[in-house]
Amino acid sequence: MSIQRDDFPADFVWGTATAAYQIEGAVDEDGRAPSIWDTFSHTPGKTRDGDTGDTACDHYHRYREDVALMRELGVNAYRFSIAWPRVLPQGRGVVNGAGLDFYDRLVDALLGAGITPWATLYHWDLPQALEDAGGWPRRDTAYALAEYAAVVGRRLGDRLKRWITLNEPWCSAYLGYGNGVHAPGRQDFALSLQAAHHLLLGHGLATEALRAAVPGAQVGVTLNLTPTHPATPDPRDLEAARRYDGFFNRWYLDPLFGFGYPLDMWELYGPMVPHVEPEDLRRIAVPLDFLGINYYSRSVVRHAEQGPLLVEHVRPEGEYTYMNWEVYPDGIREIVARVAREYRPRSIYITENGACYPDGVEDDGEIHDSKRLEYYRSHLSKCAQAIREGAPLKGYFAWSLLDNFEWAEGYDKRFGLFYVNFATQERRLKQSGRWLKGFLEGAAEAG
Ligand code: IFM
Repeated sequence: MSIQRDDFPADFVWGTATAAYQIEGAVDEDGRAPSIWDTFSHTPGKTRDGDTGDTACDHYHRYREDVALMRELGVNAYRFSIAWPRVLPQGRGVVNGAGLDFYDRLVDALLGAGITPWATLYHWDLPQALEDAGGWPRRDTAYALAEYAAVVGRRLGDRLKRWITLNEPWCSAYLGYGNGVHAPGRQDFALSLQAAHHLLLGHGLATEALRAAVPGAQVGVTLNLTPTHPATPDPRDLEAARRYDGFFNRWYLDPLFGFGYPLDMWELYGPMVPHVEPEDLRRIAVPLDFLGINYYSRSVVRHAEQGPLLVEHVRPEGEYTYMNWEVYPDGIREIVARVAREYRPRSIYITENGACYPDGVEDDGEIHDSKRLEYYRSHLSKCAQAIREGAPLKGYFAWSLLDNFEWAEGYDKRFGLFYVNFATQERRLKQSGRWLKGFLEGAAEAG
């Protein structure tokens, strides 16, 4: 199936995405204090091979080179995240000017290269001091996020207009506080629901703070969404799919778009539901300029007799990436169309989409990642279809610019368009990156 840039509107945003802890390194330079991910990754047994983000892609020192790579690729936007513990090492209070300076230089370098910066405020690196004070289950953390938003907005907002408050609050809440696979590694389902509520409240408060600090700000939030399909037409499996959708998608979408928490899930969670104060839902539902969707795969589930959701995953026949995620291109069209239909956001951006494969440099010096190339081609084709069918999809960010620290999976899992040799920090364009470059140049496809 062939796809070209002309299948998208002329003003479509084309970007790549990264996150601070996954690429920056320099964890104890220029006044940065530890985040929960420094603590977690340095705790034995928490990440594959004990990998940490101490050096990562050394982007803190190599950002100019990395901006040049984006230019080479031909993207017109870059989504990065700001490390909260660089800017406010204790989470709130004293501002670290040297930390802000880094993002100031990065934004200038991007603008100089003709690349529009898109900043995510919170991509999982909570200052450890805030976790020590109670973390996301504590209400105060939401207010701390808004203070941090105001600080970075005031400093960068003259040039930086596109803001994303949170990246994937489901991951911060559930993986961080529910099953503990991510930092800070706590394991309490009820606590994770309280964390989710405070993340959403923080989003609302931070949005207001950004709009006050940044003239002309465009503010949105990024959710990881998964179309959820029942394993069989059995009504019990249909119900299981509805519950999983409630847990993963609707628990975030509904309050953000002013519908409050989904009643079916509220009833299912019973005594585990979060404490919600009277004005919270109004604050969470602050109008969004756009919704960011991160899409990787769908979920197929059936009824189970255990767990808070009474759901278990099944693994349909098909193709899987090295993350063990099913390659399911139509899911990106399905989720975009559904969100457009049911929630009516002004605009939607795919703020992440990409695939992990075990790449290596071959004898000819190339990285022949043809499966990733095909993943991009098929998903972009489905994005074009979603637009033709009327969805307000305005841009696409590939995950990721570089191979990087894949959280609990460490450096074993590569998602980059550029291959990174972590021993030398050499970057090399993969075949998929070369394809994307040709696509963005409008080159005709062979075959
Ligand atoms: O690497 C992550 C990213 O930080 C958040 N979204 C999913 C990616 C791949 O797992």
